[in-house]
Amino acid sequence: MKIAVLVSGGGTNLQAIIDAVKERRLTGVSIEVVVSNKEDAFALTRAADNGIPGVCIRPKDYPDKDAYGNYLAGFLRDYEIDLVVLAGFLVVLPKNFIEAFAGKIINIHPSLIPSFCGDGYYGLRVHEAALRRGVKVTGATVHYVDEGTDTGPIIAQKAVYVEEGDTPETLQKRVMEQAEWVILPRAIQMIASSLESFRA
Ligand code: GRF
Repeated sequence: MKIAVLVSGGGTNLQAIIDAVKERRLTGVSIEVVVSNKEDAFALTRAADNGIPGVCIRPKDYPDKDAYGNYLAGFLRDYEIDLVVLAGFLVVLPKNFIEAFAGKIINIHPSLIPSFCGDGYYGLRVHEAALRRGVKVTGATVHYVDEGTDTGPIIAQKAVYVEEGDTPETLQKRVMEQAEWVILPRAIQMIASSLESFRA
């Protein structure tokens, strides 16, 4: 199964996928290309360090969202991508792109959806909201991407305890280490295995 990973920042989730493939914890999957909307995303460095093609495709370089969506869809079709993985990707994908890859886009979100998700809930803000609400348990979710924000069918979730004295930063780190980096490769493996059996 050929995957593209879309990123905007540090790329620790991308790294988790790269490591899982390298260590054969994730099989039948090849990371064909990494696409960032930010030229300076460290995720592009991670791709380069691992011999994976990395490109920067910026929405602002296109006259409108549809033009961006069309170009991105065509670019990924040229790579014969089977699954688009959003890993810390902060661009809201346009409808035409979602339709072009209907049912083939997944996202990792750093909370147990439907808590702390939707517009405005990304990165540290998710953990700030969890701490503000005083939840005892949070976690991460992998879900299919539909036209909404964090609203598609849930594929996998993993819970993480909030600890006494947690800051948004310490909580984010624990959610990444104990949940995100675990369930994202697992979700990709589930999809790759089912695709393989379907194609067999
Ligand atoms: C992570 O919290 C991820 O859940 C969210 O973006 C943050 C950065 O991820 N979607 P990464 O380090 O760039 O993978």
